Amino acid sequence: MFREFDEKAPPPFGSAERSPSPSKLREDWQDYLVPQDWHYFTAEEHGVWDTLFARQVPYLGTRIVTPFLEGIPKLGLDQPGIPELGRLNERLERLTGWRCVSVPGLVPDDAFFAMLAERCFPIGNFIRSADSLDYLEEPDCFHDIFGHVPLLAHEPVARLMQAMGRLGVAAVADGFGDTISRLYWHTVEFGLAREGGEVKILGAGLASSFGEAHFAIEADVPRPRFTLKEAAATAYRSDTFQPLYFVSDSLEVSAAELESLDLSGLKRLAP
Ligand SMILES: [Fe+2]
Repeated sequence: MFREFDEKAPPPFGSAERSPSPSKLREDWQDYLVPQDWHYFTAEEHGVWDTLFARQVPYLGTRIVTPFLEGIPKLGLDQPGIPELGRLNERLERLTGWRCVSVPGLVPDDAFFAMLAERCFPIGNFIRSADSLDYLEEPDCFHDIFGHVPLLAHEPVARLMQAMGRLGVAAVADGFGDTISRLYWHTVEFGLAREGGEVKILGAGLASSFGEAHFAIEADVPRPRFTLKEAAATAYRSDTFQPLYFVSDSLEVSAAELESLDLSGLKRLAP
């Protein structure tokens, strides 16, 4: 029943079309930023956000980790329409020091990780169209904001994401980008986590996807226990639903585990 949605899993970050050298990376990531131009969003585009929000929240209500749900009102994401990043950042920066920045689409992995290292999360400056609510060629602002930002207001995730950014910069520069990408994918994007004895949604790719949220929780699909070693060795799919979903012992346990990982530890995990 889940495959009726013609929905591709949105990749967390993009191709390496432009790859600044590591020594220039910290300055160059800002070259990818653009104004959000919030005033140019049409009434129809704001309506797409509202439709997606109204469809997603009732399902996630009992099926997603609690800090995600708590983040929505804390950040004012329960207000109608596409969030304006300036107003969103006023709340987010006060909570954890993270801020959202606007990008026109996918950015190269090294620039993406460099942004995370600076507690900046890239947000696509566009939203999917009303006639293709379940199809994404690349992450839009609903995926980026609704899927990711609520947990950036939760301190353990705020620390984890910055740590992954720093490690990601080093890993990409050292040829271990695939390994850090797998860890990111199997937790931040498509991970599940135990909470109160139940398996809950953790990842943004699930939180923002109507079809795959149902699939990950309800379908007859493997849900192995998350370990760094297993996740680092397991390929993911960016063109369809995942063939399996790793389940962390808890959000906090996996966040702490990933936060403490360094480059030498990452290299040891590489398959
Ligand atoms: Fe994402």
